[in-house]
Amino acid sequence: MAASETVHVPVLPNEILEWLDPQPGKIIVDGTLGGGGHSRLLAERLEGQGQIIGIDRDPEAVQRTAEILIDVPVTCVHGSYADLPGVLDELGVEQVDGVLLDLGLSSDQLADQDRGFSFTVDGPLDLRFDPTQGEPASRLLDRLSADHLANIIFEYGEERYSRRIARAIVEARRGNPIQTAGQLADLVRRCVPRSGNTKLDPATRTFQALRIAVNDELKILDQMLARLPDCVRPGGRIAIISFHSLEDRRVKVAFRQDQRYVILTKKPIRPNESEIQRNPRSRSAKLRVAERAPR
Ligand SMILES: C[S@@+](CC[C@H](N)C(=O)[O-])C[C@H]1O[C@@H](n2cnc3c(N)ncnc32)[C@H](O)[C@@H]1O
Repeated sequence: MAASETVHVPVLPNEILEWLDPQPGKIIVDGTLGGGGHSRLLAERLEGQGQIIGIDRDPEAVQRTAEILIDVPVTCVHGSYADLPGVLDELGVEQVDGVLLDLGLSSDQLADQDRGFSFTVDGPLDLRFDPTQGEPASRLLDRLSADHLANIIFEYGEERYSRRIARAIVEARRGNPIQTAGQLADLVRRCVPRSGNTKLDPATRTFQALRIAVNDELKILDQMLARLPDCVRPGGRIAIISFHSLEDRRVKVAFRQDQRYVILTKKPIRPNESEIQRNPRSRSAKLRVAERAPR
């Protein structure tokens, strides 16, 4: 992949356009800019009036995508979507017409051998969206107790063999600390029996759990769900795509319990068969949309 290219294919593109309804003059936040696929689609509808504000925690993604989107009105910002109030303040924007969050990681991050997101390539086990902050997953594996590791793997990965995996990690690090994605994937595969009817790699759930822990993803999503309504004008739309039940549940509960949200999608919207064929990554996507309630 060249420095100014993306391999990421945006999920549910038509549905995002339909629900966020970008029109000339509107200001829409793409809180998870990634490879800029959604931002480009939204920006093209603005016909030169209005702007998309694209935020990503990954500094490399922001730099690359700013180059890719040079021809459309997208302001690219490095930061966390949970800091949206501060980002809007800096840009002198009071409230926006819509917000998109497309959670999780991008195909560009998955393909990057130096990040550790993919366990099919043996890169350093980092797993941070923003490698300039916090600590890499390898350090977490070296530092935490077996109980703490087991809790993370169970809670964030919904992995029933969490205790066995945590014990194996603690055993392994006595001799040789786990430094690469390949080392961890091999260890997990030795601990988890492969069930006959799934193609899922047994390491998937453990990697998901560590990624969530390293990036504090669920706490940040909760913060965002609490802050979002103040950033959106009454009648503005909020569209959130999640890829696993831990995220989807939080979105569902916040939309239901917080009176500043009016639910527009009673059930989550899923990609159709033809999208799943074209873009297998979309398989587990769930989109929920709410409107900012009138004051
Ligand atoms: C699924 S990708 C988004 C892809 C994008 N919609 C596109 O069309 O290319 C998710 C992105 O969210 C970013 N991300 C994850 N947590 C974030 C956060 N708290 N704040 C901002 N960006 C975040 C990741 O770095 C990743 O680039």
